Amino acid sequence: MAATIRFAGVTKRYPGGHDALVDASFTLADGEFAYLTGHSGAGKSTVLKLAAGIERPTHGTVLVNQQNVGRLSARAIPWLRRHLGLVMPDVKLLEGLSVGENVRLPLEIAGVDRAESSRRVRAALDKVGLAGRERARPAALSGGEQQRVAIARAIVNRPAALLADEPTANLDAAAADAVLALFRDFHAVGVTVIIATHDEGVIARHPGRRVVLDHGRVIGAGAGEPQ
Ligand SMILES: Nc1ncnc2c1ncn2[C@@H]1O[C@H](COP(=O)(O)OP(=O)(O)OP(=O)(O)O)[C@@H](O)[C@H]1O
Ligand SMILES: [Mg+2]
Repeated sequence: MAATIRFAGVTKRYPGGHDALVDASFTLADGEFAYLTGHSGAGKSTVLKLAAGIERPTHGTVLVNQQNVGRLSARAIPWLRRHLGLVMPDVKLLEGLSVGENVRLPLEIAGVDRAESSRRVRAALDKVGLAGRERARPAALSGGEQQRVAIARAIVNRPAALLADEPTANLDAAAADAVLALFRDFHAVGVTVIIATHDEGVIARHPGRRVVLDHGRVIGAGAGEPQ
């Protein structure tokens, strides 16, 4: 599956009346690599949650491959998630499971057989520089290493799009660059990548299109946009 992500006139009002997004429109073509930037509270995480079907828009439409994510049935949401790799700061690793078992979870849910999933778990951990830590407990890893386990879990299912919320927040520049190199590898093979970040150093070192939010409004959408 390919992944085109389109927001058309999206307003998101959370309970309590605050408008986190206001009439936001932009399109990410299949295979694009883009940053989502803007001040704290601008609405970056909200954009990612809407694209993943974690939140629903108050007005407007969120389309992932022509599918209206805000209207997907409860049964269709897991289908959507299987095609998206999510790296979210509030999605924690399960402490009762080893690192490898945490990474395996999406494959188990998708019904991938044990031998194939073991192979893919090892490959994903290798990609994030954690080969050999498969049997460790998440608590035995540093914050940055745990972040990389979360990234391994997001890529293990070979998603059509990667949505990452502050994926380099706990990392030093070298580890951040390694994560970006990984995302760019996925971009190079056609995966749509969207990264919400405050990290101007990362953006300077890894240039990409930038969708800029300000108080919930899209104030810039990079090359060829807005539409
Ligand atoms: N579940 C929620 N309920 C009520 N208000 C919320 C909720 N989630 C976010 N908001 C509000 O919506 C606005 C946008 O939040 P969002 O998390 O999308 O911002 P952000 O750009 O990701 O910020 P940060 O850079 O701090 O992560 C903020 O004013 C926030 O307080
Ligand atoms: Mg955020």
